[in-house]
Amino acid sequence: MAAATTETTFSAEEYFATQPPPPSLEHDIGEVRDFISRQVKEGRNVVLVTSGGTTVPLELNVVRFLDNFSAGTRGATSAEYFLKAGYAVIFMHRQFSLQPYSRHYSHSTNPFLDFLEIESRSGTSSPPEICVTHNMRQDLLEVLTAYKSVHAAGTLHTMTFVTVNDYLWLLRAVSQELCVLGKKSMYYLAAAVSDFFLPRQKMSEHKIQSGKGSLHIEMDQVPKILKPMVHEWTKGEAFIVSFKLETDEQLLIPKARAALERYGHQVVIGNDLHRRKFEVVFVSRAQRPLPSTDLDDQSPGTFAEMWLRIPVLATPNPVTHQVKEIEEDIIAELVRRHSRWINEVYN
Ligand code: PMT
Repeated sequence: MAAATTETTFSAEEYFATQPPPPSLEHDIGEVRDFISRQVKEGRNVVLVTSGGTTVPLELNVVRFLDNFSAGTRGATSAEYFLKAGYAVIFMHRQFSLQPYSRHYSHSTNPFLDFLEIESRSGTSSPPEICVTHNMRQDLLEVLTAYKSVHAAGTLHTMTFVTVNDYLWLLRAVSQELCVLGKKSMYYLAAAVSDFFLPRQKMSEHKIQSGKGSLHIEMDQVPKILKPMVHEWTKGEAFIVSFKLETDEQLLIPKARAALERYGHQVVIGNDLHRRKFEVVFVSRAQRPLPSTDLDDQSPGTFAEMWLRIPVLATPNPVTHQVKEIEEDIIAELVRRHSRWINEVYN
């Protein structure tokens, strides 16, 4: 398949004026509104975590689509640490990607059926019992306890997207609802978002037929929504963290700096595809020195860079595959920065 990439750029406004909203938008946003108003009453900070990859359908009756790389590990793991830190979390994720708590028992890496056992009750007519394998009990107890307490507290709200169109409409609508929280809202944009899409008006209604040689698709550029998000949808008040994924490590810092310049948000977290589970770099503006002792490298100019690293382990934990998860440190650092951001206004 060959894809031409001539520049057709929609502004965010043009995009929303021409592309239809997902059918469940109003219902989904009604639920988000109720969730946010409960958190406002209870005085919690709220973070929107986006997670997983968006798709770009090639047909209206979709058989084929382009996908973006992301299992949802970063988003699901981070959501757990935000909840542990006392935040309420709106977890907006790609349908069927990993979710907080259940991620520990993913069907492909740690299938839950493998640690259940059947115990027959000999000498009785009672049906057999299902038990958890002894060596898995402690892990399961910890995960289950955290899961149940989050449910009882009502601090996690999940919603799903599939296409980049779903994602953009939901992101805008959630941002507008989160505005009531002002500085107490955070955005943690870990989703892998498509850069190109096929406008509805250019899509084939039915399955694209093969047998006519190669396929040429001209896609339009997805609008860069971080700018309207920072300056319009959130009125410049929210604490916004975006991610930058690269495969060439040399590009991480220049690309992250360029994103901060262009969009004017607070932090870009750079991650290299192959090293993302044990190394990330925080890039932010450095008008005032940051009080962190972890600051490895502070640029003399406008930007500050801080590397977070955890050891790469020889013997991984069977559940998490690591003794420590880097998201624990990422969230601790963000909570610290967000709290400073809030206090700058209220004090
Ligand atoms: O889920 P895992 O397998 O653990 O992988 C995690 C991850 C590597 C996908 C994650 O850590 C990550 O880097 N996510 C962002 C990858 C990406 O697509 O970057 P980008 O350059 O396309 O986008 C930059 C930022 O802007 C992202 O935060 C994205 O959510 C946001 N964006 C981009 C374009 C757009 N139209 N809207 C957006 O919100």
